[in-house]
Amino acid sequence: MAAKPVAPVPGRRPGTGRLVVLVSGSGTNLQALLDTIAEAGADAYGAEVVAVGADREGIEGLARAERAGVPTFVCRVRDHATREEWDAALTEAVAAHEPDLVVSAGFMKIVGKEFLARFGGRFVNTHPALLPSFPGAHGVRDALAYGVRVTGCTVHFVDDGVDTGPIIAQGVVEVRDEDHEDGGAALHERIKEVERRLLVDVVGRLARNGYRIEGRKVVIQ
Ligand code: GAR
Repeated sequence: MAAKPVAPVPGRRPGTGRLVVLVSGSGTNLQALLDTIAEAGADAYGAEVVAVGADREGIEGLARAERAGVPTFVCRVRDHATREEWDAALTEAVAAHEPDLVVSAGFMKIVGKEFLARFGGRFVNTHPALLPSFPGAHGVRDALAYGVRVTGCTVHFVDDGVDTGPIIAQGVVEVRDEDHEDGGAALHERIKEVERRLLVDVVGRLARNGYRIEGRKVVIQ
């Protein structure tokens, strides 16, 4: 892929987009971003990961960032008197890295008003179900319990609801009969294979091409 001048994401200068990625766990989606950018080069991909943030310490997601030489920060709810103070601290920690896009890649916290006021319209989340079905923290388990035969993943912009923001892209995964035996672990792994490719593709296209959000529709230019 040849490097080309990028059409900016809203409000940003032309050039390589700055990504802050938020994680709470294993960070395989983060790793997919890091690997793709290392392979393609930040100019060709259109963005680079400038920092990784987490709501807890000691997770593999942070270790992945450290191995890649990416700065990290941790902002724990329990270190703050109120949820609002945590939200303000998270907002400042992210803002310090001047991101063009913030990516929630397995970040298991709902952000608050201040975060959305600062990063609304450029905060992307990936969810392991086909929204608007099965929002929340247990998308895989809930889909399986409902008995759906297909599920998948959704990459969307975050708004002030739980997994309700404008959808950018979705990927479909079939449910197998045996998925009920392990409580959805194998299904989640198959979803994550699709999800990693989808997230890498979407973030790159947003950064390279620019986009606009028209109501519930996301138009990548
Ligand atoms: C992903 O499947 C992501 O969709 C999910 O956590 C996983 C993180 O995997 N997020 C949610 O469930 C948010 N509601 P990873 O840490 O290996 O990237």
